[in-house]
Amino acid sequence: MDNAPKLEKLLEDALVSISSTTGLERLDKIRIGVLGKKGSLTAALRGMKDIAPKERPLFGKRVNEIRDAVTKAMDEKISALEEVAKKERLKQEHIDVTLPGTKHSIGGLHPLTQIYYETRDIFVSMGFEIMDGPEVEYDKYNFEMLNIPKDHPARDMQDTFYVTPDIVLRTHTSPVQIRTMLRKEPPIRVIAPGRVYRSDDVDSTHSPIFNQIEGLVVGKDISFANLKDTLNRFLKEFYGKDTKTKFRPGHFPFTEPSAEVDATCAKCGGSGCGVCKGTGMIEILGCGMVHPSVLAGCGIDPEVYTGFAFGMGLDRLATIKYGITDIRLLFENDIRFLSQFK
Ligand code: PHE
Repeated sequence: MDNAPKLEKLLEDALVSISSTTGLERLDKIRIGVLGKKGSLTAALRGMKDIAPKERPLFGKRVNEIRDAVTKAMDEKISALEEVAKKERLKQEHIDVTLPGTKHSIGGLHPLTQIYYETRDIFVSMGFEIMDGPEVEYDKYNFEMLNIPKDHPARDMQDTFYVTPDIVLRTHTSPVQIRTMLRKEPPIRVIAPGRVYRSDDVDSTHSPIFNQIEGLVVGKDISFANLKDTLNRFLKEFYGKDTKTKFRPGHFPFTEPSAEVDATCAKCGGSGCGVCKGTGMIEILGCGMVHPSVLAGCGIDPEVYTGFAFGMGLDRLATIKYGITDIRLLFENDIRFLSQFK
C-alpha cells in the first residue's frame, strides 16, 4: 500500500508551506489547497475506496490526525502573523509624546474693540450706563435738536451722507444724547459708543466710517468742574497717571461753554515728537455744558437741571495709545498688523 507515505508527504509539505508563509491571504490559499473541497487531503480521503478494507480504519484515523495537525499549525501561524501585524501597526502608530505640539493660532480682539472695552470699563466704574442709538438717524436728532438747524454753517463742518432729506448716516454719536434725554428723566449718566459716518476721503487720518464714544451727564448742580474731573480721571486711567490735560475754549452748537481737550502725548510723554508735531500734547475730544435750549428741547427744565457732554474718537484714542500713524490700518484687517495686539 503506497497511500500512507503519500499521506505523510502531504502533511510534511503542508507544514512546510504553512511555516514559510508570511501573509494571511497566502495561508488561506494553503488551507483551501489542503482541507478544501478540492483539497489534497480531501482527495486522499476520497481515495480510501482503493485501500484494502482492513487498512481503512487506520488510514481514516491518520487522515483525521493530519487534518487536526494542519488546522493546529494553521491556527498557530494565524496568531503569529496577527501578532507580527499588530507589532508593525503599533510601531507605525507610535507617538512621541515629548515632541512639541502643533500650535493652533487663536484669534484676539481687534485693537478698536480692546480700546472700547477699556474705555467702557473706566466709565462703568464711574457709574455710567451704556446707551445705543441707530447709525441711520433722523436729521432732527443728528442736527436740529442739537442746535444745528438746516442751512446752519455748522453743518458744513460735517460732510454728511443723506439717505433722504430727513434721514442721514449719523455724523457723530451726539444724537444719542437727544434720544437719551427724550427717554430718561435726570439723573442721567450714560456713554454711547458707535460707528459714525462722514463724507470724507480716505487718508492716513480720515475715514468715512469711524467710531466715537459720546458721554452725557444731566442732573442737579452738574458743573464744568464735574466735567473736568470726569475727563481728567478717564484720561489718567486710560493713558497713565502722569497724563496732563488742557481744556481749550472750543465751539459746538449744542454745548455752552464748549471746550476741546488736549492730553499729554502718549508717544513721547510730553517732550515733543512726530506724533504730537512737537507740541507734547494731542487733541483728544470735544466737550461742554449741555446747551439750555437742547435740554429744553428734550423736555428737561434748564432752570432745574444742568449737564455736560463729551465726544471722542475711538480710533483716535487707539492710534495715540498705540502710536499708530495711519488710521487705515485699523480697518484693513491685515493679520500682520492685528496679531500685534493679541
Ligand atoms: N459731536 C462732536 C463731534 O463729533 C463732539 C462733541 C460731543 C462735542 C459732545 C461736545 C459735546 O465733533
